Amino acid sequence: MRIDVVSIFPDYLAPLKLSLLGRAQEDGLLSIAIHDLRDFTSDRHRTVDDTPYGGGAGMVMKPEPWALALERVLEEQRPAQDAGTDGPGEAAPGTAASGADDAAAQPGGRRRPVLVVPSPAGEVFTQRMAYELAEEPTLAFACGRYEGIDERVLDWAREHFEVRPVSLGDYVLNGGEVAVMAMVEAVGRLVPGVVGNPESLIEESHSDGLLEYPVYTKPSSWRGHDVPEVLLSGNHGRISQWRLEQQLRRTAARRPELLEGADAAAFGKPERAV
Ligand code: ADE
Repeated sequence: MRIDVVSIFPDYLAPLKLSLLGRAQEDGLLSIAIHDLRDFTSDRHRTVDDTPYGGGAGMVMKPEPWALALERVLEEQRPAQDAGTDGPGEAAPGTAASGADDAAAQPGGRRRPVLVVPSPAGEVFTQRMAYELAEEPTLAFACGRYEGIDERVLDWAREHFEVRPVSLGDYVLNGGEVAVMAMVEAVGRLVPGVVGNPESLIEESHSDGLLEYPVYTKPSSWRGHDVPEVLLSGNHGRISQWRLEQQLRRTAARRPELLEGADAAAFGKPERAV
């Protein structure tokens, strides 16, 4: 997967070179390019913002540097798009690309690459969305700052991209960079091969709509706290049942609203070899 991020603070994104995602880039599973929006300005001060029409506090990001930066991204993503498995007619059933009147399809039949615009006014990012985005051959992220990006950039971008304004949650950050770090990590680790043991993706929180069960390691007794007896029993059926009960109890206590949308299969989850 190829990922492009446009920001006025490219250094903010430097940690994407570390740890699991860093290794995935070295192994050629992921390619992450960070673009400095100021490289697409033409004045001496490399200006990216201006005062808002209609008045009000703060500054708004100017449209032209964004158009030039996103045109560069489109150009650089073209080979990965052409090589992608999501070509016309190949979309998996149930995905956004599978409909006949697919909003992501361009007139020539080619799919539009996805452009995520982090914003507190976007749809909320979820594990389901992470899985959806992980299917894409390319992803682009446009990090806004100040009061936001001139809305016409998004209107123009829809001619070339499938534009998705996405919020990390109901709170306000100073800009899109931190949200992009979270989203790139959540999506990148779902790209096949990035996480060494794919089993760990199956068991974790949100994979079945429930929160994860508690985990323990040695020693079995520590500072007066014991590991639940069932986990020492060696009885895989009992362990699976206990873990599911813990998931349900935890979800009910911490995130009751998730129980409504939980994967029905989770409730009759077959016994698994652990
Ligand atoms: N930019 C500012 N606040 C944000 C949020 N909550 N989610 C995504 N991007 C943002």
